[in-house]
Amino acid sequence: MELHKHINPPLFFTYLCVHALILHSCLGLRLSGNETDRLALLEIRARITEDPFGVLNSWNATVHFCSWHGVTCSHRHQRVTRLDLRSLKLAGSISPHVGNLSFLREIYLQNNSLSNEIPQDVSRLRRLQDLLLQNNSLSGEIPSNLSSCSQLIRIAFSFNLLVGRIPEELGTLSKLREIAIHDNHFTGSVPKSLTNISSLEIISATGNNFSGSLPDTFGQMTNLFVLAFDANSLSGTIPPSIFNLSSIRIFSVTYNQILGTLPSNLGVAFPHLEFFGIGRNQFSGPIPVSLSNASSLRHLGLGGNRLHGKVPSLENLHSLERLLLAATI
Ligand SMILES: *[C@@H]1O[C@H](CO)[C@@H](O)[C@H](O)[C@H]1NC(C)=O
Ligand SMILES: *[C@@H]1O[C@H](CO)[C@@H](O)[C@H](O)[C@H]1NC(C)=O
Ligand SMILES: *[C@@H]1O[C@H](CO)[C@@H](O)[C@H](O)[C@H]1NC(C)=O
Ligand SMILES: *[C@@H]1O[C@H](CO)[C@@H](O)[C@H](O)[C@H]1NC(C)=O
Ligand SMILES: *[C@@H]1O[C@H](CO)[C@@H](O)[C@H](O)[C@H]1NC(C)=O
Ligand SMILES: *[C@@H]1O[C@H](CO)[C@@H](O)[C@H](O)[C@H]1NC(C)=O
Ligand SMILES: *[C@@H]1O[C@H](CO)[C@@H](O)[C@H](O)[C@H]1NC(C)=O
Ligand SMILES: *[C@@H]1O[C@H](CO)[C@@H](O)[C@H](O)[C@H]1NC(C)=O
Ligand SMILES: *[C@@H]1O[C@H](CO)[C@@H](O)[C@H](O)[C@H]1NC(C)=O
Ligand SMILES: *[C@@H]1O[C@H](CO)[C@@H](O)[C@H](O)[C@H]1NC(C)=O
Repeated sequence: MELHKHINPPLFFTYLCVHALILHSCLGLRLSGNETDRLALLEIRARITEDPFGVLNSWNATVHFCSWHGVTCSHRHQRVTRLDLRSLKLAGSISPHVGNLSFLREIYLQNNSLSNEIPQDVSRLRRLQDLLLQNNSLSGEIPSNLSSCSQLIRIAFSFNLLVGRIPEELGTLSKLREIAIHDNHFTGSVPKSLTNISSLEIISATGNNFSGSLPDTFGQMTNLFVLAFDANSLSGTIPPSIFNLSSIRIFSVTYNQILGTLPSNLGVAFPHLEFFGIGRNQFSGPIPVSLSNASSLRHLGLGGNRLHGKVPSLENLHSLERLLLAATI
């Protein structure tokens, strides 16, 4: 009250109003959203143990967090919408507090040396569209309730040390276009639920240890144009429905134990085919002559199988760069 004696009435009135506003937001939300974001970012910084370029020095109190390196905020509410700390040689782990950045749409942490697990708390980010964590040293399994992030468009976990199965639940991510999980230690079968995602365009799963056969419903993914499962332990036959996917451009399953014959209309069924790699499997039967119709073909790898018959005419294949036919590779 001592203080108020020295304040003139109009100013005091302003003071009260401001105070009332703050009080109101405090009562309503406890922490205003932007304060939650600031605290979460500080927790994220605290888990980074190495920052050789010193980019996190800019994460200090003299500047608003929306101006911190790699942080993008929405204009209206000053909430963090993007966290971009890619290729900065950062070491440490990903703080579970990232799950408090409730307006986050994009996480770009690829090309660092982050270790430990992907925090389960990521699943609280209901607006998340891009989760790019490739090329780190992340271990553990994919959080099964990542499926709660229903807006996800791109998942990139490739080049990490992840283990376990692909959670069935991911099949509910109805907006997903790309899932890149190559070069990890994933096991188990490819969940059938994934083929429910009709928006899926790219599945890149090379260099894991997936087993069993590809689900027979693969052909449901009518937007799929990249299918890469090289160097796994897949067996069984290629589900016939795949040959209905006339958008396929890259089909690569080299180094597996897949059997069966190739459909004679292959080159016509996949008119946009650029890369066809099935080497080192157990395919048998004739080489489809229709491959000569796939005029965009750059790479044709058939070696290491038990295929026979004539090599298709290469006359129309103006883009062909590699042709691998050796019986053993
Ligand atoms: C949080 O938002 C309030 C009102 O929108 C603003 O006055 C305050 O400066 C903001 N604080 C931070 C740390 O951004
Ligand atoms: C805080 O960040 C600003 C802006 O990046 C930078 O100029 C300043 O040196 C930083 N302060 C400290 C103490 O690191
Ligand atoms: C933020 O996240 C952590 C861990 O998920 C949690 O313990 C904490 O209560 C959350 N809320 C705030 C406001 O920090
Ligand atoms: C990762 O780093 C390499 C080399 O520094 C660069 O060529 C590549 O584009 C980066 N990848 C991503 C996804 O940022
Ligand atoms: C992985 O990141 C490192 C830098 O941390 C980079 O040199 C390398 O090229 C990246 N590899 C890939 C495949 O992006
Ligand atoms: C995800 O699972 C973790 C641990 O089981 C739990 O703490 C978290 O609340 C779950 N998140 C959602 C969105 O269900
Ligand atoms: C695919 O989606 C349908 C409809 O939502 C559901 O009934 C079915 O169980 C799903 N299939 C798989 C394999 O998850
Ligand atoms: C891959 O999985 C198969 C079948 O589960 C198993 O027999 C094999 O030992 C595994 N290979 C590696 C390298 O883990
Ligand atoms: C391929 O598509 C045709 C026409 O849509 C359909 O009749 C046929 O059953 C499909 N084949 C497979 C194996 O899914
Ligand atoms: C496939 O190629 C052959 C020989 O070039 C040609 O006669 C035939 O019309 C082509 N078929 C289709 C469906 O394009």
